[in-house]
Amino acid sequence: MNLKKFLRILVIENNEIDCKILKGMLSESSVGTFQLDFTDSLHKAFEYLQKHNFDVVLLDLNLPDCKGLETLKRVNDEFPDIAIVINTGAYEDDLGLKAVSHGAQDYLIKGKYTSYALSKALYYAVERKRVEEELKSAYTRLKEAQSQLIQIEKMNVIGGLASGVAHEVKNPLATILYGIEYLTQKIQTEDEKIGLTLKTMKESAQKANNIVKDLLDFAHSSKLDRKPENLNDIIEKSLQLTKVLLDKHRVQAIKQFGVIPSISVDANRIEQVIVDLILNAAYVMPEGGALVFRTLTRKLTKNYNDVIFYIDKKFSVGDSIVLVEIEDTGPGIPAEIKDKIFDPFFTTRRASGGVGLGLSVAKNIIQSHGGEIMLENRKEGGARVKICLKV
Ligand SMILES: Nc1ncnc2c1ncn2[C@@H]1O[C@H](COP(=O)(O)OP(=O)(O)OP(=O)(O)O)[C@@H](O)[C@H]1O
Ligand SMILES: [Mg+2]
Repeated sequence: MNLKKFLRILVIENNEIDCKILKGMLSESSVGTFQLDFTDSLHKAFEYLQKHNFDVVLLDLNLPDCKGLETLKRVNDEFPDIAIVINTGAYEDDLGLKAVSHGAQDYLIKGKYTSYALSKALYYAVERKRVEEELKSAYTRLKEAQSQLIQIEKMNVIGGLASGVAHEVKNPLATILYGIEYLTQKIQTEDEKIGLTLKTMKESAQKANNIVKDLLDFAHSSKLDRKPENLNDIIEKSLQLTKVLLDKHRVQAIKQFGVIPSISVDANRIEQVIVDLILNAAYVMPEGGALVFRTLTRKLTKNYNDVIFYIDKKFSVGDSIVLVEIEDTGPGIPAEIKDKIFDPFFTTRRASGGVGLGLSVAKNIIQSHGGEIMLENRKEGGARVKICLKV
């Protein structure tokens, strides 16, 4: 660690003598160089921290507007990125361990340290915080990677099984459909019941046929007919196809299209994905709502929100991507089903005709384009789908 690095410190301390002592100790320190700002209450400290950048906070636990560990908790909650060193009175000595487990990087007792020890404590606190953040981010990535691996494994097993069944069912089903068609043409009868029976049989067989088609799509989505396309156009077309349903549910589509480059995709497949996502959103907003379509292009950064895209090394920092975000104002995804929604045949709408293939097929299609799709809940309520494709 570079102890020569200049450290910006916010001292939150209301005792003037203690402030003077700190100033003296740090100005004569041989260990590093420091810039000190002083503030005497927690609410003023928050204003400072919002406006300026600091490396570390030197915090007294006994302030006029907050006392004890609550002080630490509030700083940590509001500014989780900043390193905190507690500098407090001897009567609070026994709080040390608790403070460290509540997010402080070090705990000093007034009058019990030298200038040298104080300077070191400040530098070490900044370094500890940095390592802590790295660990946290590595842990998030590990968790994501783990759940993706489980997902891939599940998809392989279920996908193999499903497409096997679909192949077996496809031909008999075609025979049944053909038979119904033939009988419908040949049977001329006054009996309404016969006509009705044939009609229901045809509808049911067609529904089964659509499921089989989805399953086969699911297994064969690697065969793509890719051409340069603009995703804004594909969304526009998907909206036209679903207009009747959206109007029926009184869902208002809001287009926030960015200027995005064309990318090489299979337009029919991507349209299938967008239509499925629109249908999902329409079903969770039976009483109406808003559906926002946002498209943008940018380079991926090290930003927390992007970390998720690096998991299986499909993307890396600096890649140019097109991002499609679809936000609804429905109820969002309940925590207990969050890990299952991409599973084939997982549905919460079985009673109203859901098969549970929409999202699993969508994921397969996007992944076969080298992209990624995910669903998350929005802070404001409702769900957000993110589709990330490389330019
Ligand atoms: N926008 C959303 N908001 C809340 N929950 C959602 C949303 N989209 C999907 N889900 C949940 O994920 C489940 C799986 O979705 P998926 O599209 O795979 O299947 P489905 O819509 O139920 O059936 P299918 O698409 O095969 O007709 C849904 O049943 C629903 O519970
Ligand atoms: Mg669906």
